[in-house]
Amino acid sequence: MTKDEVLGILIRSEDYVSGEHISRQLGISRAAVNLAVGSLRAEGYGIISKTRSGYKLISSPDRISYSELVQVMPAERLKDFIILESVDSTNNRLKTLEHEGAPSGTVVTADYQAAGKGRRGRTFVSPKGSGIYLSYLLRPECNADQISSLTAFVAVAVARSLEKVCGIDPQIKWVNDILAGGRKLCGILTELSVESESGAITGCVIGIGINVNMSVNDFPTELRDTATSISAVTGKPARRCDIIRELTAELDLLQTEFPSSRSKYLDYYRAHCPIIGKNINVYKIIGKDPVPAKALSISDDFSLLVEYKDGNRENLRSGEVTIRGMNGYI
Ligand code: BTN
Repeated sequence: MTKDEVLGILIRSEDYVSGEHISRQLGISRAAVNLAVGSLRAEGYGIISKTRSGYKLISSPDRISYSELVQVMPAERLKDFIILESVDSTNNRLKTLEHEGAPSGTVVTADYQAAGKGRRGRTFVSPKGSGIYLSYLLRPECNADQISSLTAFVAVAVARSLEKVCGIDPQIKWVNDILAGGRKLCGILTELSVESESGAITGCVIGIGINVNMSVNDFPTELRDTATSISAVTGKPARRCDIIRELTAELDLLQTEFPSSRSKYLDYYRAHCPIIGKNINVYKIIGKDPVPAKALSISDDFSLLVEYKDGNRENLRSGEVTIRGMNGYI
């Protein structure tokens, strides 16, 4: 705690601040101030000191830590945060907590995932120090019919937060990949728990993986033409804690707006969906050949209305699509 308070004072002071001033402000000894500064330096904070002037913060690491998050969001909200250096998968860790009774809104983040999970049994590449790997527990009050639109709501929440914090122009590739410039920036994997007797949904673990400060070489060769990161798009590094703050705020809002505020989410989704009106390939089953179709519209339940070559139409509720004749991820 002391360390975070010392950091707070250094962040707010534009110039040097004396050890004595810090100790008086916080009601702690000078030795405690020295200790706090030492441990902040060990975490990577650039703190210089000058005789008779005190300390000055000159650089902060892009770390996902309590010390950093508490500078940008309320300490009260962080009570339900589990912040890890590494984990197999944040979704797996949160599912364990979910079964132990964790409240709706619980968040697990990690700086590295050894076995990040993607949709359809794929892995999600999760290098250390450059991405956001975050899982959010939602215990929704809705019926089984309404739950299918949850991933689309989440896509909107993520896109809105990236737009706000990073100034990018996000696209949502049906169902819920977030793209920038036609390349994948973020993937979402939602895992549901259902009570077997009643069929009621007891919890949803929403897993979000965002490529933040990766360079092209951080991606495996097979992803280099289709993936991108926020820093690659904007040309400057982004601070992950700022994104986590906004993302959490959007997901907290979603918690109160799902499923009742459907039209607000639909409007955003439709306005940011790049495939409408395009000739696409529909992949319904993994390993099977795609079926060519035209994407007509996003229906009110977020399903994708397509028309096949024989004129038949279908509302797709799941599956994957790509735009025909395009390179990249779209
Ligand atoms: C996809 O694009 O296929 C979905 C990727 C989802 C990745 C996130 S990272 C945080 C959470 N933990 C996981 O193991 N997966 C999700």
